[in-house]
Amino acid sequence: MVCDTIEMGRYDTRIEPNGTGSNRRDLSDSSFVKTIFKLADTMKAYHITGPGGLSSLKQVDVPEPKLGPLDVLVEMKAWSLNYRDLAMPFGGYIRNDKVKRNPPLVPLSDGAGEVVAVGELVDRFKVGDHVASVFFQTWLDGDLTDAQIGSALGGAIDGVLAETVAFHQDGLVLIPNGYLFEEAATLPCAAVTAWQALTLANPQPGQTVLMLGTGGVSIFALQFAKALGMRTFITSSSDQKLNHAKELGADVAINYRANEDWEQVVIQQTGGVGVDNVIEVGGAGTLEKSLAAAKTSGRVSLIGVLTGQPDQNPSPMMALFKRLTIQGIYVGSRRMFEAMNQALETNMIRPVIDKRFAFDEVPAAYEYMQSAQHFGKIVITRCNKGQRESRED
Ligand SMILES: NC(=O)c1ccc[n+]([C@@H]2O[C@H](COP(=O)([O-])OP(=O)(O)OC[C@H]3O[C@@H](n4cnc5c(N)ncnc54)[C@H](OP(=O)(O)O)[C@@H]3O)[C@@H](O)[C@H]2O)c1
Repeated sequence: MVCDTIEMGRYDTRIEPNGTGSNRRDLSDSSFVKTIFKLADTMKAYHITGPGGLSSLKQVDVPEPKLGPLDVLVEMKAWSLNYRDLAMPFGGYIRNDKVKRNPPLVPLSDGAGEVVAVGELVDRFKVGDHVASVFFQTWLDGDLTDAQIGSALGGAIDGVLAETVAFHQDGLVLIPNGYLFEEAATLPCAAVTAWQALTLANPQPGQTVLMLGTGGVSIFALQFAKALGMRTFITSSSDQKLNHAKELGADVAINYRANEDWEQVVIQQTGGVGVDNVIEVGGAGTLEKSLAAAKTSGRVSLIGVLTGQPDQNPSPMMALFKRLTIQGIYVGSRRMFEAMNQALETNMIRPVIDKRFAFDEVPAAYEYMQSAQHFGKIVITRCNKGQRESRED
């Protein structure tokens, strides 16, 4: 397999200047020495140069990161996109606006790779470990604090879309056993968010949960809910995607374009009761329907804003009259990520990857995300384009 570096977790692009065979070169050749010097000290990364839209996303050569005593140097192998990443080239959002405050921004919160060096005081990881980034670099456990919100990768601070990244050792987790790098790269944001939204509610087998749409968060929530023994409802604009969701175990699948009153279908399909938990990713445009779809004393997990419509003012009355618990979800802590990884291993859950893009195709990956054609996750791999195409054949 051409792109087996992703599979096997080994990726060696270094050229031995004084090696054997075809790598042996005469070091008196100064241009060659300069090339080697450049390869050793610079790397490729992406920058969002300012809030100028998708055209402000540029591939750049930057110095390799320096290693501090508590840092871990990670050779990144794969990354994944989240809906939030689309907001960054347009200026970001509250507390995630480094692109406006202090450009450029290195985008993306989600990535996985191999540890290639550790600082002298590092005791959590060793060279060769396979790791993934933690969304909030400093939210390790307990309740989220104001200060920790300022450690969100790829929004508040620089993210991970670079060939090599230096992380504080606290900002990484080991990837689940047997996971490919491209699978692990899908976990830090969408999966941890879905995990928190479900597990905060103390879910029980036989309870019901509703997912809106078939993007990254919703498909992870579907997979977790099935593993927890819950009865699952999902909506989509596409019958084809709904069929795919049924193959993953969705019990009730509703086309929200064909059924504008999709919340009524949910109520009807639960015997007039409503669901225990709604994974609410739509925001203002879906909130009232989500409140209606929840059962009395049930719960709505507020996560996303896919419908935009900030001028819309959904009524909260259903929340009062039905004594709903409204829980705001903001990704999750490192502890939640580690607990989720154990559940992924135990239940042998594999992320659903819709499409892979090569590192030099990042703008196309953003455009694909924007088109909302995907089901599950969109991944960027370190392979070059030729390697990726061979792998997909
Ligand atoms: N609070 C947090 O910590 C947190 C974390 C992660 C994500 N989020 C937010 O959660 C949302 C989802 O993120 P994501 O990364 O999973 O997005 P995504 O992968 O881009 O999901 C996009 C999908 O959402 C569905 N969708 C769009 N409009 C919809 C509508 N009106 N009703 C129902 N479904 C609709 C569509 O599914 P179909 O094609 O099937 O119709 C679309 O393909 C975003 O707003 C994101 O910012 C928040």
